[in-house]
Amino acid sequence: MKTLLLISFSMLTTLSLNNQAVADPDTQPKAWSADSWHQQMRLMPKGDLYRGAQLAKQGYCFTCHGEKGYAPSRNAPSLAGQNQAYLYKTLLDFKNRLWLADHKDEGMHDLARTFDKQDLADLAAYYAAQKPWPKITPSGSPAIAHLAKRGDPQRLLTPCASCHGAQGMGGPNETPRINGQSYLYLKRQLSYFKSGKRSNDVEAGMRFAAEVLSEEEIDQLARYYANSQK
Ligand code: HEC
Ligand code: HEC
Repeated sequence: MKTLLLISFSMLTTLSLNNQAVADPDTQPKAWSADSWHQQMRLMPKGDLYRGAQLAKQGYCFTCHGEKGYAPSRNAPSLAGQNQAYLYKTLLDFKNRLWLADHKDEGMHDLARTFDKQDLADLAAYYAAQKPWPKITPSGSPAIAHLAKRGDPQRLLTPCASCHGAQGMGGPNETPRINGQSYLYLKRQLSYFKSGKRSNDVEAGMRFAAEVLSEEEIDQLARYYANSQK
């Protein structure tokens, strides 16, 4: 599976795109502060979703993220209807190597670097406008539901719900929808935030939340928000 993904990424970048890396005009900081991100968000170009649809075709995004942005496998996240600022930000982070937790992110980097900021804004606009992937009702043990909704003051853990929304449908600014992604994907991201391997979050907000979670809680929170238990 791992080799397959690597092969498909390298094939796609050589086949589909003109492979001219577009230099980023402004230097992105090594980590986002609230100020640097808000400044960047103000500079986000207005996205053209029709152009975004063409770019998505050209970049073969559908092979991993699904025809309309509803991921066909458990490995890649769904994108349809996702928060637009978040989509733009993560593409920018892949492009600038700020989100680089493992080889899958290398693949996303190889793709994102071939696009400029206007392209990324267009792609974000396109996916944000698609019909959202199916919603689930979060469910788990009373203890895990309590953790998600109420947090844990003793560990200074802010409730997931206070940022991601009561059902995990997403929050303000760049806070993504997590409801109905795959168990595998959610668990991987939470583990990467906990270990600090994923470090593209603004002011380390997600890392602060994940670092106090046990592996068992990560597993259960992933199940709580996921579209299946596998
Ligand atoms: C070969 C498979 C593959 C292709 C092709 C691909 N992606 Fe991805 N993408 C992934 C995987 C896997 C991840 C998750 C990385 C991780 O788990 O660390 C991802 C992550 C993302 C994310 C972050 C989403 C989130 O919820 O955090 C965005 C946005 C994204 N891809 C957009 C695109 C766009 C736009 C294209 C086309 C230009 C594209 N991807 C092409 C596999 C792919
Ligand atoms: C302080 C606000 C905040 C809290 C509390 C918080 N999150 Fe997040 N979370 C975010 C933001 C913002 C991001 C996007 C990070 C980035 O820029 O890539 C995120 C990203 C994520 C992701 C990655 C989504 C993806 O598509 O890759 C997961 C999974 C996640 N959060 C789960 C949780 C869970 C479970 C909790 C509760 C233990 C939680 N979060 C608590 C704000 C928060």
